[in-house]
Amino acid sequence: MADAVIDAVLARIDADIDESVERLFALLRIASISTDPDHARACAEAANWCADTLNGLGFVAGTRPTPGHPMVVGHRTDATAAGPHVLFYGHYDVQPVDPLELWHTDPFAPRLAEDEAGRKVIVARGAADDKGQLLTFVEACRAWIAVHGRLPVPVTILFEGEEESGSPSLVPFLEANAKELSHDVALICDTGMWDRETPAINSSLRGLVGEEIVITAASKDLHSGLFGGAARNPNHVLAKILADLHDENGHVRVPGFYDGVAETPAAIRAQWDSLGMTAETFLGGIGLKYPAGEGGRSVLEQVWARPTAEVNGMIGGYTGPGFKTVIPSRASAKVSFRLVGGQDPETIRAAFREFVAARVPGDCSVAFHAHGGSPGLSVDIDSPHMARSLKALSDEWPKPAVVIGSGGSIPIVGYFKDILGMDSLLIGFGHADDQIHSPNEKYDLASFHKGIRSWARVLAELAE
Ligand code: BES
Ligand code: ZN
Repeated sequence: MADAVIDAVLARIDADIDESVERLFALLRIASISTDPDHARACAEAANWCADTLNGLGFVAGTRPTPGHPMVVGHRTDATAAGPHVLFYGHYDVQPVDPLELWHTDPFAPRLAEDEAGRKVIVARGAADDKGQLLTFVEACRAWIAVHGRLPVPVTILFEGEEESGSPSLVPFLEANAKELSHDVALICDTGMWDRETPAINSSLRGLVGEEIVITAASKDLHSGLFGGAARNPNHVLAKILADLHDENGHVRVPGFYDGVAETPAAIRAQWDSLGMTAETFLGGIGLKYPAGEGGRSVLEQVWARPTAEVNGMIGGYTGPGFKTVIPSRASAKVSFRLVGGQDPETIRAAFREFVAARVPGDCSVAFHAHGGSPGLSVDIDSPHMARSLKALSDEWPKPAVVIGSGGSIPIVGYFKDILGMDSLLIGFGHADDQIHSPNEKYDLASFHKGIRSWARVLAELAE
């Protein structure tokens, strides 16, 4: 492709960036929190916004109902399109905003601000995860179409509205629409860069098993003076079980947890070591100093290649203002396991339930609720699409693109492979300090702007 062809698209992106930001703000104003039933209307509104936007760009697009929140599907194949047919995936739903009091401004009133280093950032829930990221692709398509009246490759777009709540409708939807959605390669924009100068393609993600456990003792809440000492306290039972999950060296104590977990190959460890990340840098950015995970492993290995157990929430007894002397009748916790290759989610779930059940004393009962399960994944790093995308990213950013791992989970990558037979390319422009899932989430304006430019280049490169 002649340089002039892509240069014209890039110039258009630069000229249009303020309008691109305005369009992102419009999407960010919609409070599409998928996990909260009170926000179902907002989820539908966000889906409609996405479908309308795609139709406005000449896609044939629409929302598709599911038992949960709608999917958005759009297609555009121009007569001159060449190269692989890509399926682009992103999610329009966002995480809840609590604790709301820690936000400096309304999470759904997006604004441009400056960070401590004077960089421009877009602040809002979903700015980075994933509305800003998904729009980088849409805006790249917009520029291509505006300048050349076409997209260089055939494009299908799939936006989901339940990613942050475990994607319950996704598998049946992919199965029912496999023919429409199976194409040559999936492009996913829901990950991060290595650093502000170095773009990255993610080659591995951890899997995830979520479990909620509920311990019940007495038939009702009790006065802790009248019954304390005699009656079993489920808060104590729960705390003891959760404390038992790890040994002093950070190892998970659930029997069989590490079965099938391979050591990171020396070549990959060496490649990660060459990135020069230290525990001080990694933890320093979040106000910490001391690595708390498995001993004897680098922080990158801890988050990219090792399985973990984390307690994400604990509920029990009186937590309101003031003080209440109570022995609650129940206590519950939400626990998640990040998995790596070789670990089967349902085997881990069963082993955890057995581990908990064996520790529940008389007079107490336990109930379990499953919250999703997906295995750890790695993607093919030798594909021609990977090489072309690395080149496109390297052309845009100051430093050449690198292949990295990630500790997060994007279960759809596995479903694309198993159900649609497609490999995925995980390209994203987030940063470790984006505060995704936390108060004051932001997306660097540079991530948005150069992310759009990056996708414009990737599309051009794939068409070669
Ligand atoms: N985009 C994130 C995951 C992510 C972030 C991967 C950065 C790699 C780099 C995604 O939206 C997410 O948060 N996923 C959840 C899993 C989901 C099943 C709730 C996660 O990882 O906790
Ligand atoms: Zn996400």
